Amino acid sequence: VPELRIRPFDPDAASDRAAVLDICVKTGDAGGDATALHPDPRALTDRYATPYLELEPGWAWVATLAAGGGDGSGRDEDRDDGGGAEHLDPVVGYVLGAPDTTAFAARFAGWPSSLTPEERTAHAAAMLLPERHDYPAHLHIDLLPRAQGRGAGRALVQTLVDQLAERNVPGLHLVVDPRNQGALAFYTRVGFTELRRTPDAVVFGRRLGPATPGVEPG
Ligand SMILES: CC(C)(COP(=O)(O)OP(=O)(O)OC[C@H]1O[C@@H](n2cnc3c(N)ncnc32)[C@H](O)[C@@H]1OP(=O)(O)O)[C@@H](O)C(=O)NCCC(=O)NCCS
Repeated sequence: VPELRIRPFDPDAASDRAAVLDICVKTGDAGGDATALHPDPRALTDRYATPYLELEPGWAWVATLAAGGGDGSGRDEDRDDGGGAEHLDPVVGYVLGAPDTTAFAARFAGWPSSLTPEERTAHAAAMLLPERHDYPAHLHIDLLPRAQGRGAGRALVQTLVDQLAERNVPGLHLVVDPRNQGALAFYTRVGFTELRRTPDAVVFGRRLGPATPGVEPG
């Protein structure tokens, strides 16, 4: 069984960035491949991936699948050629977070990208859901089909939740396309509650307790 691992996104690895953008497009249509919908993939990636990597690189983690088939060979043997680390195991998924959605939206609006100023303003405004007051952080999570259903999604969410709780962020929200039945099932299984539903969006939230140093759950 190939081995899935979680590690921080590496801003110095061009391969990490490329993989995140690729996965964003391949899962961008209610969880399915959005390649055919976007002649310019940046319509998706400049909204849902690149700004997180640029503006909040410390809140991004990737899931990798051991290239060697799970025997540990080739794993974590990162080379450093001086031009940035190279990671051997392919990135098959990610979680991208913004700990403070209000602040992130403001920074996004001023972040230069392929989007027009009007598109940027509209997307920033769309981030400002009322839920952000009780659930200030938000996330995006995506895994390639071959990495789905093996616990990586749960592990990525837990990694982000642990870091947010450590920073005393009181809650986390996200938005799902109501057509995305798999994601709707997933979020309720990993601790989120459905807060609100409109014809084209379901908002989920999870409150985060304060970190309790020295106390292990269970
Ligand atoms: C949704 C997604 C992030 C879930 O990650 P995952 O690694 O596949 O899920 P996990 O294996 O960690 O599953 C965690 C729990 O959710 C449940 N779950 C996950 N996917 C499910 C699905 N499609 N249908 C029903 N339940 C599902 C699992 O059964 C598991 O429940 P349990 O632990 O209580 O038994 C992943 O499938 C994915 O990236 N899908 C495509 C992109 C996408 O839809 N992203 C979300 C956009 S909002």
